[in-house]
Amino acid sequence: MTLLSFKPWIAADMAAGLIFGQSGGSFWLPPPSATSAIWVDRAFYFLLYVSTFFFLLIVGLMTFFVVRYRRREGVEPGPSPSHNLALELAWSGIPLLLVIAMFGLGFAGYMDLRTPPRGAYEIRVSGQKWNWSFQYPNGYVDTNLHVPVDAPVKLTMSSKDVIHSLFIPAFRIKQDLLPDRYTTMWFTATRPGEYDLLCAEYCGTSHSEMLAKVVVHRPGEFESWLQEAQRRRQSLSPVELGRELYLYAPGGCAVCHSIDGTRKVGPSFKGIYGQIHEFENAPPTLVDDNYIRESILNPSAKIRKGYPDQMTVYKGQLSDDQITALIEYIKTLK
Ligand code: CUA
Repeated sequence: MTLLSFKPWIAADMAAGLIFGQSGGSFWLPPPSATSAIWVDRAFYFLLYVSTFFFLLIVGLMTFFVVRYRRREGVEPGPSPSHNLALELAWSGIPLLLVIAMFGLGFAGYMDLRTPPRGAYEIRVSGQKWNWSFQYPNGYVDTNLHVPVDAPVKLTMSSKDVIHSLFIPAFRIKQDLLPDRYTTMWFTATRPGEYDLLCAEYCGTSHSEMLAKVVVHRPGEFESWLQEAQRRRQSLSPVELGRELYLYAPGGCAVCHSIDGTRKVGPSFKGIYGQIHEFENAPPTLVDDNYIRESILNPSAKIRKGYPDQMTVYKGQLSDDQITALIEYIKTLK
């Protein structure tokens, strides 16, 4: 490194890497598992240790001075000391250098986090009350985020209803998903394994259950997983497809509707086919194919007695085949 190419924040960053390590987790943070985590960790530990040092220094000296120079009988205060140029320069200069180092670390990391590399693998993400869907370039949709190791992945994200926030603690990345707008985020995962993915923006009743996994595949295993998953999805019967949709589709029914009779946000699906239901805003109606179809596409048309008018409108989000599959699945829930 020549003197001209010397950049203080790179030096601070290298020093931080040497002192705080790059591979292990700590009491504060899980083990970093993506390149993005290294920037965040260095900035975090640098701030943490600098703050701890000055907290102890200031509170320690304050306590010492309070005891040492307390007012005592027969002791008069001496004259106030005049300026001490060296001391004043030191207590201005050292903090200035420290905050410049903090800015440098934060800025370099921020630029890196906001700039996806060219050719990154693109996955579309949709957030909805209360689950996630990840769509891969071949059209396959999964409720967990599968990615290859050591390859940059770019997420293009949007929400179907309210604001959600996709947060992967092990990668140290978090970004809001907004309705009617795309936001992006990127990362390069560095260790195969499974990691937690959660919603970090309060989005209603089941916000705390809006969870998924990030599965980082070993080299070469991601492509075969994707092909196999797609092939399996295409070979399903209507009832099997309905079950998959119930569990995993965007805004999967399972979040709000049980199949064992348990009351959740919405009524259970158990045994409803062929029943006559009562409604808040409509005369009693037989649960048949048309009723289920209407309830999926326009849920507010008939609001089940005793339940809130809270369901997402699925008009334009499910194909006719998918609706048929859901009806066939509900028929089997005796
Ligand atoms: Cu989605 Cu909180």
